[in-house]
Amino acid sequence: MARSDLLLSVVRAGASGDQAALRSSVEAIVAEERSKNHNVLADRLQRALHTVSVASPARSPSASHAGRDTILESEPRQRIDDLILPLPVARQVQQLVEEQHRADLLRANGMQPRHRVLLSGPPGNGKTSVAEAVAEALAVQFFTVRYDALVGSYLGETNTRLARLFDYARTVPCVLFFDEFDSIGKERGDIHETGEIKRVVSFLLMQIDQLPSYVVTIAATNHAELLDRAVWRRFQLRLGLPQPSSDALAVFLQRQFDSWPETVGTRASTVASKLGAISYAETLEFCQTVRRQHILSLGGRSIKDILKEQLELWATRVGTNEVNAARSGKAAPSPE
Ligand SMILES: Nc1ncnc2c1ncn2[C@@H]1O[C@H](COP(=O)(O)OP(=O)(O)OP(=O)(O)O)[C@@H](O)[C@H]1O
Ligand SMILES: [Mg+2]
Repeated sequence: MARSDLLLSVVRAGASGDQAALRSSVEAIVAEERSKNHNVLADRLQRALHTVSVASPARSPSASHAGRDTILESEPRQRIDDLILPLPVARQVQQLVEEQHRADLLRANGMQPRHRVLLSGPPGNGKTSVAEAVAEALAVQFFTVRYDALVGSYLGETNTRLARLFDYARTVPCVLFFDEFDSIGKERGDIHETGEIKRVVSFLLMQIDQLPSYVVTIAATNHAELLDRAVWRRFQLRLGLPQPSSDALAVFLQRQFDSWPETVGTRASTVASKLGAISYAETLEFCQTVRRQHILSLGGRSIKDILKEQLELWATRVGTNEVNAARSGKAAPSPE
């Protein structure tokens, strides 16, 4: 919500005696002031807010906090520098962080920082990590939307919960993360359900449009092709996180090897080419297995030997080719 709208909603809430609305509007202003580092003003506003008596028993004491149970709050730990990102992605993430950090300057010139990001790519290549790293870089809370708590079985219930979720999110500068974003818009067989889902999606998009720029909304999907154009249009930054190239994988492996107590004695690029097409998450799992076996050997085996053995075992694993072939009823291509 733009600042003038916030001020208007404070006046309207005050004039009509709607204390819950007054509280949530003032909380939004407090959050906005904090995001600009105007902490003295934010503290004064907050103290003034405490003198507002609690809403009538018919209303919840703080309407904005009712949305808290649809959100998982966590301290972001992932750092951007620890991620290996395609150059254009790294550059755009940097720009997003800079625009948020220097939002004051932008606002003074009538502009808002960008704050709506869509991340797409196959599993295990950094979508959740990037969202968390943006929150870490901005030193704000990381909120993950809980669909299990959001989707209600009664007509209209989901939209009510969504409205509460957004009310809560706008009380504080944060990263609001929608994982598996395509699952929300996926059409179902039942025609009534489809109508309801369409209402939910259009309400969700409207809410995302109206979020203040200190709430950075990040949506992630493995299936960008399933999202319709109305959804795409909402996102100012659309970043692809593909499976790593062989070179990127070698860099990732080298970082892992460097953290081990013993020299590996095998080139990271050789290991990368043996691992083939694989996600960062799987590579990490592979490296951790090598480390586990090395620890358990109590120094009896060299890490080079263990790595060699694990690479042989790796070659025998069930891969996505086999799984896909089994799903489509075809035989998997035999290894050369
Ligand atoms: N680009 C990357 N650079 C470095 N490490 C990465 C990268 N991507 C993923 N990882 C490692 O893999 C782990 C899992 O990645 P993450 O959860 O971010 O993937 P994701 O794309 O969200 O997967 P999913 O689609 O399954 O949710 C991370 O915790 C991190 O250790
Ligand atoms: Mg994820």
